[in-house]
Amino acid sequence: MVEGSVAAPLDLPTHDPPSPICRYDAELEKVMAKVLVTGGAGFIGAHLVERLVGRGDDVVVLDNLKRATRDKLAEPVRKGRVRLVEDDIRNFGAVAEAVRSCETVFHLAAQSNVMGSVDDPDYSITTNVLGTFNVLRAAAEAGIRRFVFTSSREVYGDPATIPVAEDHPVVGKNAYGASKVAGEAYCRSFAATHGLTVQVVRLANVYGPGDSGRVIPLWLAAAQDGRDLQVYGGEQLIDFLWVGTAVDALLFAADRGLPGPVNIGSGKGTRILELAERVLQATGSKSRVLRTPARSIEVAKFVADVRLMQSLGLTPEADPLQHLAEIVPAYRP
Ligand SMILES: NC(=O)c1ccc[n+]([C@@H]2O[C@H](COP(=O)([O-])OP(=O)(O)OC[C@H]3O[C@@H](n4cnc5c(N)ncnc54)[C@H](O)[C@@H]3O)[C@@H](O)[C@H]2O)c1
Repeated sequence: MVEGSVAAPLDLPTHDPPSPICRYDAELEKVMAKVLVTGGAGFIGAHLVERLVGRGDDVVVLDNLKRATRDKLAEPVRKGRVRLVEDDIRNFGAVAEAVRSCETVFHLAAQSNVMGSVDDPDYSITTNVLGTFNVLRAAAEAGIRRFVFTSSREVYGDPATIPVAEDHPVVGKNAYGASKVAGEAYCRSFAATHGLTVQVVRLANVYGPGDSGRVIPLWLAAAQDGRDLQVYGGEQLIDFLWVGTAVDALLFAADRGLPGPVNIGSGKGTRILELAERVLQATGSKSRVLRTPARSIEVAKFVADVRLMQSLGLTPEADPLQHLAEIVPAYRP
């Protein structure tokens, strides 16, 4: 594995102009497609893979298992429905091999959270920027028709206004946000230079079974274990999104195309102390809520403007935390 390097100079073929991004070819959905999911062993990726397999697609997952295990994909791999390539998106050769004969790429592999990017900025930039460049380049060389990039609400940094619409300046506040801004810029660059049409989905805070290291999984586990729920600051306003809705949006983006980057969120802000209450209710826990100083690196307040998402027929849950109770057992210690 060659980490952090792109050896050969770019020599990309040109392709026919891509079809207009909003044209929908229903026939395509009926044909079994070969799909690459980078980061497909991770939280959102594993849910996406389950849906792709369920509709009959042939799936290749490229994942270095940095934040995942083989378990989630064990069954579809055993049944021959998923090929798991345990490699790194920073290794261009591995990406080029994995994308061969695919029609669609969902690019999810990333250093996927803010504090991780603070702890290890080198990993964040090499994976999220150089790795994204490698995936785009391999897709362009392979003539991929449908490419979806999972961007983040973190591209907006500390928003000037709430709710935040797609035309808000992208001014990432931290290394993670900056890496997603750069990733989106490379998506545009490959579209302009190589005709690779990339659908950019800006996800809010996604939750669901199979996640780890984020506030909802940490608190559901702590509450059931009688430990304190630690709140950094207490003023945060967060847009939580059910993972099933996030996956709907990724599939929609690939199948039908998007009119540009689209926010995928609930459109509703949940105050962090309200989340703590809901977690205590859902678990029946008597844990204490312990407030500690805010972490200035984090974006404190975000609510997505979801009018564009809704105009496409993608409807978030009326109560963003509607599914909280059903995932309690998933985080039982
Ligand atoms: N979960 C959220 O709330 C959220 C919000 C906005 C955007 N996103 C984005 O959605 C995508 C998926 O997020 P997630 O929550 O499933 O994260 P995750 O960390 O669970 O999944 C990311 C996957 O990428 C893999 N990976 C990491 N570095 C890699 C590398 N160098 N090469 C190959 N594989 C690598 C990890 O092992 C993991 O399986 C990410 O791009 C993330 O930035 C997530």
